[in-house]
Amino acid sequence: MRKKDKDIAATNRLLEVIRGKKDFEPPLVDSEHIPEEAARLEGFSIPEKKKTRDSFGLLSKKTLGLDIGSHSVKCVQLERRGMGGYRLLAVRAFEIAPEGIDLEEDPKRITVSTIKKAIEGINLKRTSIITAIGGVSTAIRQIELPFMTEKELASAIKWEARNYIPFDINDVELDYQIINTSKASNTLDIILVSVIKDFVRYHVELLREIPIEPQVIDVNPLALVNAVVFNEEIERNEFVVLMDIGDKNTTLSIYGVEGQYFVRNIMISGNDFTDDIMKGNGLSYTDAESFKKSQDSTGLIETIKPSLDNLVREVRRSLTFYENQAKIKGFSTIILTGGSATLTGLDGYLSSELGLPVEILNPFRKIDVEQPSMLVPFENDLCKLALAVGLAIRE
Ligand SMILES: Nc1ncnc2c1ncn2[C@@H]1O[C@H](COP(=O)(O)OP(=O)(O)OP(=O)(O)O)[C@@H](O)[C@H]1O
Ligand SMILES: [Mg+2]
Repeated sequence: MRKKDKDIAATNRLLEVIRGKKDFEPPLVDSEHIPEEAARLEGFSIPEKKKTRDSFGLLSKKTLGLDIGSHSVKCVQLERRGMGGYRLLAVRAFEIAPEGIDLEEDPKRITVSTIKKAIEGINLKRTSIITAIGGVSTAIRQIELPFMTEKELASAIKWEARNYIPFDINDVELDYQIINTSKASNTLDIILVSVIKDFVRYHVELLREIPIEPQVIDVNPLALVNAVVFNEEIERNEFVVLMDIGDKNTTLSIYGVEGQYFVRNIMISGNDFTDDIMKGNGLSYTDAESFKKSQDSTGLIETIKPSLDNLVREVRRSLTFYENQAKIKGFSTIILTGGSATLTGLDGYLSSELGLPVEILNPFRKIDVEQPSMLVPFENDLCKLALAVGLAIRE
């Protein structure tokens, strides 16, 4: 196996974490892996075989990665072209409440109408839809357990998980994947994924109102890693820090090809920057958003420093924790994604505060874009589409 293939294989192992489970209620769904009868009972239709042949005679498949964020809905439709290549078919992004959240409005209703707007006009025939859940409703941990058989593990996992997840075990859907078995140390490395049941239910209900049925519901951090590994060459001895800075949440992940996987949600993000500007400059929400997005706002970084300092402090804490835990020395780079990543001066600020090079991800770097005009509306903030791309390139 070539090195790059190995990298992808390592990540795919992570990405398999929530696949193929049959006993969730409601399931984190990959209906292709659920026996037909069970899927029907769960209320999911059985997708017809969606594979067609491309011009090379290789199997091709269309996917739509649908990222339902708290601020905006993003979707990316790709066609798989065999040999691991992808062609861009459609890309859309719409803000959920451009004028700010109206407290009288039902958030579910406006999210549903934004999703409808985002997918309107996209030909979804023969397309698998992949969505994800993220933020504080999810927790992902890599843990080490004493060696046991898969059967023993299946019955022990709920008990073991109590020690590692920040939620009541009865409130979560739980899944796990063995990623390494070490005979020498007699241990199992496991990725444990937990998602609060009510959030899964809300997400499924939201999609049914469109109505769409996703083939897979993923978790945000794993799809973000997928997008980064697909587009960037990560060396075997490197540890990269990924920060998806959205509106309500910053997802911090640490990824090394063979290293321990780490993820943490930090509740400091774009909306806190807007709050700082509203307070600091006495502006309305809309004016503060424009000030934040402008490339020549005087004193922007200074104005949002209260939130930025909190964010930097939390990131630093996590990096130190990881270095001690994984016994590594330092990280190679910070890769930024999410709508807030393009805030003017943020990359430089993070770089100097955290002492690491910072780059902003172009999630389309390795995707075949036959019509460059499709990406023109996003040329300044392609990085906000990283999660949608990560979902669409899922196997
Ligand atoms: N050019 C820009 N400069 C600064 N901030 C920006 C810019 N463009 C968008 N933002 C901010 O990015 C945030 C939205 O990012 P994104 O679309 O990634 O969020 P989301 O995925 O909906 O949210 P979350 O992931 O937190 O649920 C908003 O706070 C928005 O104001
Ligand atoms: Mg987001």
